[in-house]
Amino acid sequence: MSHRTKEKLWHRRKFLRGVMAAAGLSLSAGTLVACGNDPTATATANPTTKAILAATPGAPLPPAPTPTISSPTIPSPTIAANPITATPPADVSAAPGTAPAGYTQVGKVGSPNTPPLKFSAGKVSGFIFMKSATQPVVFSNICTHQGCGVAYSNAEKKIICPCHGSEYNNTGQVIKGPASLALEQYDSKIVGDTIFAKLPK
Ligand code: FES
Repeated sequence: MSHRTKEKLWHRRKFLRGVMAAAGLSLSAGTLVACGNDPTATATANPTTKAILAATPGAPLPPAPTPTISSPTIPSPTIAANPITATPPADVSAAPGTAPAGYTQVGKVGSPNTPPLKFSAGKVSGFIFMKSATQPVVFSNICTHQGCGVAYSNAEKKIICPCHGSEYNNTGQVIKGPASLALEQYDSKIVGDTIFAKLPK
């Protein structure tokens, strides 16, 4: 390559660097080689570079490529579930008719001031007396004197032991001996319209 040719190539590369800098592009090694009329490198140059290479010094520059701006994806905030949960009272949380732990169903809520109603649950039997609409009294039917089974007398309106004549009122309290202790009473709860009692095993 003659000195004259080398000088022409140097001026051409300098012109291209200025053009590329004005267009915001970099000048690759392949493009520089293309400037030196390398046919292989010219084939690999991008379209914009080719257009610049083909431009005559002093001619209008090809339009710069429009940059593509992609919008960032903003993740949607995740709202955690409210961790505060109210705990209702134990009796209210139970489904109607569901026995509280340790309790056994013994009957349904009845009218207050009615004679004691008999119940039987497994090996235990006794009476339920409603002191009010929400106050059941649940107690055993086993006489505290010597263990006979007592019964309610509709005629005398009280509970009487057939063995030795002990008498009890509607809530199982002793009215007359020889028994001296009230009939055994069981803790009770009302769920819905159902009465449950904590009965001995
Ligand atoms: Fe009931 Fe004696 S067993 S009065």
